[in-house]
Amino acid sequence: MDIVMSKPVILTGLRANNDLHIGNYFGAMLPMIEMARQRAGEFQINMFIPDLHSFTTPIDHDQLQDQILNNARLYAAAGLPLDHDDILLYRQSYVPAHSELTWILDCFTGFGEMSRMTQFKDKSQNLHLGDYIREKTGLDTRVTVGLFNYPVLMACDILLYDAQYVPVGDDQTQHLEFARDIAGRMNSKFGDLFTVPHAVSKQHEFFGKGQGLRIKDLADPSKKMSKSDDSDKGVIFLTDDPQVAAKKIMSATTDDKASINYNPIEQPGISNLLQVLALLRSQPIDQIEAEFKGGQHYGDFKRIVADEISRFLTDFQTRLSESDNQAIYAAFKRSEERANEHANATLLRAQQAVGLRPKEA
Ligand code: ADP
Ligand code: TRP
Repeated sequence: MDIVMSKPVILTGLRANNDLHIGNYFGAMLPMIEMARQRAGEFQINMFIPDLHSFTTPIDHDQLQDQILNNARLYAAAGLPLDHDDILLYRQSYVPAHSELTWILDCFTGFGEMSRMTQFKDKSQNLHLGDYIREKTGLDTRVTVGLFNYPVLMACDILLYDAQYVPVGDDQTQHLEFARDIAGRMNSKFGDLFTVPHAVSKQHEFFGKGQGLRIKDLADPSKKMSKSDDSDKGVIFLTDDPQVAAKKIMSATTDDKASINYNPIEQPGISNLLQVLALLRSQPIDQIEAEFKGGQHYGDFKRIVADEISRFLTDFQTRLSESDNQAIYAAFKRSEERANEHANATLLRAQQAVGLRPKEA
């Protein structure tokens, strides 16, 4: 059987998402890009935009094309190399094998095992609250079969490329385990069909358990910074005006201890600002703590963080405005050709195994 790419594959899906904040940037996007830069050469890095996943929950379809492009522009601005031979950047729906294999694996997946997926339970419950959203937005908020069997599509995303390593957040570990289960089940029924991705514990060993990093909401540092927050005051978006972002830092909630220490339990607000500064300067947190420890003037310290964030956003937004659509489309084209080759070879193996194609094609 043809194995098109011989290097081991690291694969991850980059969700199309327009309002990314600095938590997403430092917690997910940047580590992924750094991983790609460091591991390319030794590994094949598949980064793809799961556009077929985009409407498992209601969206405005008129915006999807822009969101996909914008997503790729964000990654380019954050430093993802677009012309590295070992780094593929592709759109899922441009590789039809994803949809085709999903149907096949749907028919080997139990209704019960999908019903147990916690993300389905959470998201479908949110949609049940959907009357209000439906009235407000006109969006169809029904719980769809697409949301239900999305883990099967995600398994195909992984199995089509023989991926071994899949960096995902905690909320996706159950889906990754499902990918391992279905691969194992198919292999025991049909012989060596799929590469089984490594178990979650092995993934953590390989990537380091960097998932722990959580930037907190500036207004309420007891919770994480999140786009689903009601008010924007505690969240800095990558698209925020740098001056507005600086103001958000200046009005961040701290405490009345008048002593700067890195102690996320006792002083969550000030510790969060130390953490943000460490990330902005790419310095270890101990170094930042040593520089400011014991300082009494929160205002002066905030000013330093505010200046740093506004410099960061100005630079980032300049890079974003300079992201070159031509280069992105060229990366899509090169990557989608390679992705189709690999995915089609795997799909054919599966089609032959289940009897849809003659064994010797
Ligand atoms: P949000 O909570 O803003 O909706 P998502 O749940 O869509 O974010 O997460 C997208 C990615 O960003 C995940 O990998 C998640 O771990 C990371 N992430 C989200 N919020 C933060 C945060 N406050 N600090 C660090 N990483 C974060
Ligand atoms: N489901 C992932 C998320 O919501 C995105 C994703 C889709 C993915 N397919 C994948 C991640 C395959 C890793 C591997 O964030």
